Amino acid sequence: MLWVKAFHIIFVISWMAGLLYLPRLFVNHAMASDAATQAQLQLMQRKLLRFTTLLGKLALIFGLWLWLQWGFAGGWLHAKLTLVLGLIGFHVYCAKLVRDFAAGRNTRSHVWYRYFNEIPTLLMIAIVILVVVKPF
Ligand code: HEM
Repeated sequence: MLWVKAFHIIFVISWMAGLLYLPRLFVNHAMASDAATQAQLQLMQRKLLRFTTLLGKLALIFGLWLWLQWGFAGGWLHAKLTLVLGLIGFHVYCAKLVRDFAAGRNTRSHVWYRYFNEIPTLLMIAIVILVVVKPF
């Protein structure tokens, strides 16, 4: 069980790294005015998204493995899973934004992306508190 938990945490950290860095690339992209920089950022976004999606899937697989094999239960788990759905939604929305940037359809300012960037941070803080403190 501890091995599965260790790999769950490893993949969660890696997934979060991608989810925190991707919106930073959107901030830079929304500020970039020359075509070469935009093309470079597009490439970085696409590669980071692909890698982050793989790591996110592994984090979820190992989380589900922990849950289903060792029967964890409680209000904290339901609350955590609800927030995880929020993280997945954020990830899917980032994938849409990568496609929008690639098609030159971005309409938002770099300031908007700076606020957008805080969503995964807040979700991650709440999830870690729920899973470690288990307040209910
Ligand atoms: C399908 C999604 C997920 C499921 C089913 C799941 C399930 C679990 C379970 C059953 C545990 C063991 C809890 C314990 O040892 O008391 C655990 C541990 C943990 N999970 Fe998840 N998890 C998921 C996604 C996530 C995400 C997205 C994060 C963070 C952003 C996360 C962070 C953690 C951490 C930090 C631990 C270690 C807690 C500890 O050992 O005290 N998990 N997870």
